[in-house]
Amino acid sequence: MVISGKDLAQSLKAKMAEQVATFPAKYGRVPHLVVILVGEDPGSVSYVTGKARAAEEVGIRNTTIRRSAEIGEGELLEIIAQLNADPDVDGILVQLPLPRHIDEDRVIAAIDKGKDVDGFHPLNVAALWQKQPCTLPCTPKGIIRLLEGAGVEIAGRKAVVIGRSNIVGLPVAKLLLDRNATVTVTHSRTRDLPQVTREAEILVVAIGRPRFVTADMVGEGAVVIDVGVNRDPDTGKLCGDVDFAAVEPKASVITKVPGGVGPMTICCLMENTIEAFLRRQER
Ligand code: GUN
Repeated sequence: MVISGKDLAQSLKAKMAEQVATFPAKYGRVPHLVVILVGEDPGSVSYVTGKARAAEEVGIRNTTIRRSAEIGEGELLEIIAQLNADPDVDGILVQLPLPRHIDEDRVIAAIDKGKDVDGFHPLNVAALWQKQPCTLPCTPKGIIRLLEGAGVEIAGRKAVVIGRSNIVGLPVAKLLLDRNATVTVTHSRTRDLPQVTREAEILVVAIGRPRFVTADMVGEGAVVIDVGVNRDPDTGKLCGDVDFAAVEPKASVITKVPGGVGPMTICCLMENTIEAFLRRQER
């Protein structure tokens, strides 16, 4: 079964649009998401465009602040300070990666924790690992939604995550663990990776290498979630970390790139923005 993140995201966005439509009467305005894009990295530009489109569909106000890659760290921090103080801003997202001369950690930590719709702020990360209420990072949250939406049983199953990034690998491992999977996190130094991944009943792949996961790395009947967004070196087209054509016959459930995890990430960003807005109304 190929599960479509695109379809699930579409139906979740339609529900959110109905909810947001009630906000002007209740609260006098709609949620406001501000995205900061530094430079013109093609991947980042396309993400930001997708976010703006989704916000429009859901009825969320979206502002994109574009700055050149030459912007100084101080100037970027100043923009964030202004957005933190602005009562009409509910969510702030700084598109990553940032140019090398800017300290990403410092920039993320400067965002107001309550407006951190990416869930990247150190206090949100700490809360996740301590099982306290927090803003969940969008891609891991979207992956869990996809698994649950497809009726995949998580508890008691062997899950293997390829990749240990702060954005995907580590938090998705934690969310799977919280749902009682037995989780193995693998990486570039893992010995005999195919032997480890073949044991996986749920395999989450987030390493950013085109068609890295081949059929021999996947066990019969596995659930395969492909988080990769790469350019195919041969065709120039978008492709995932999984060799889909080869792996699909072995998998019981699999996602595609594009149309798999990506739309769910954006969908969860909309949800996080609505949650940030509602928290601010309660105060
Ligand atoms: N770059 C790649 N993925 C992400 C993401 O989820 N959030 C942000 N801010 N930047 C990214």
